[in-house]
Amino acid sequence: MAVIELEQVNKTYSGKNGAVQALKEVSLSVEEGEIFGVIGLSGAGKSTLVRCINLLERPESGHIRVEGKELSSLSGKELRLERQNIAMIFQKFNLLMQRNVLDNVCFPLEIAGVRKKEARKQALEYLRTVGLEDKAKAYPVQLSGGQQQRVAIARALASHPRIILCDEATSALDPQTTRTILELLRKVNREYHISIVIITHEMRVITEICDRVAVLHHGRVAEAGPVQEVFKNPKSKAARQLLLLKETEELEEELTDNDEEDSEESSYSDENEHIDELENKTTPYSVSETGKNSRVVSEDKGHTAILTAEKRKNLHVVRGGAHAVG
Ligand SMILES: Nc1ncnc2c1ncn2[C@@H]1O[C@H](COP(=O)(O)OP(=O)(O)OP(=O)(O)O)[C@@H](O)[C@H]1O
Ligand SMILES: [Mg+2]
Repeated sequence: MAVIELEQVNKTYSGKNGAVQALKEVSLSVEEGEIFGVIGLSGAGKSTLVRCINLLERPESGHIRVEGKELSSLSGKELRLERQNIAMIFQKFNLLMQRNVLDNVCFPLEIAGVRKKEARKQALEYLRTVGLEDKAKAYPVQLSGGQQQRVAIARALASHPRIILCDEATSALDPQTTRTILELLRKVNREYHISIVIITHEMRVITEICDRVAVLHHGRVAEAGPVQEVFKNPKSKAARQLLLLKETEELEEELTDNDEEDSEESSYSDENEHIDELENKTTPYSVSETGKNSRVVSEDKGHTAILTAEKRKNLHVVRGGAHAVG
């Protein structure tokens, strides 16, 4: 059964600089108990999408059904009740800084009218689930980013949700901490049978824990399906671009590791000269520069390569990061 269904959802923001259509005819469904990923580049409409799921943002047209209920038809009180089933986790953790860890986790229980002693008992249990029972008396500033996100997950659990929406929940964390938080989310998904929607711009997050994925591109769902299928045989240009970015990132990591082992001065300045020569020539290639290394991504051949002499011809150089040329 679908726990979340979006049908032909359109959302437009009107601002000083005119209207921005953030979501265009978006349709997708999240099955009960699954971990569903939504991936896209910055500005693709991911946060708008996630805020539409609990109607924090109201679309101008389309249907949003959560556990079969059409959200727009609910009264204010009914909507508030329905929202209690949906917890959110954010990139910046959003903890109450004046409260200690235990009191942060108690917060949703207090709002739900649970007595203090019982709330503390439950909160401690959730802290145990996330491996932080020894930090109950600490304040958020005394914790690392990964630990703060664990508190946020414990707090989310305390509201007994059936759905957790994560908006870039690991984007502020290093790769190792990201992995531990993703493992925790998977545990939460399995042990509490909570459906999870993960919004991210990072492919590794999708491939690591998501069952299915939707690729969002300029407000539209470019394609959707099981993670393995979508990224093994991407049909949309948007999915291919994301795949290329992932390959580039992986190669960056690999080569950065190698560079660290190899203390010899690299030919970076040499490479740089060549990059300068190449600017303004356009073909479906992109070059990323991170640290000392330059990479070439060929969109045609779908592979990533280190900058080599013969491939330096006819390249379009994009500076300051990995960009696939559209
Ligand atoms: N409150 C707002 N008012 C006007 N425009 C907005 C508002 N929120 C988002 N937008 C615009 O809607 C589009 C989608 O924004 P959104 O924040 O959903 O993207 P995103 O995919 O979450 O990006 P990021 O990865 O950078 O967080 C962007 O063009 C953005 O500028
Ligand atoms: Mg966002």
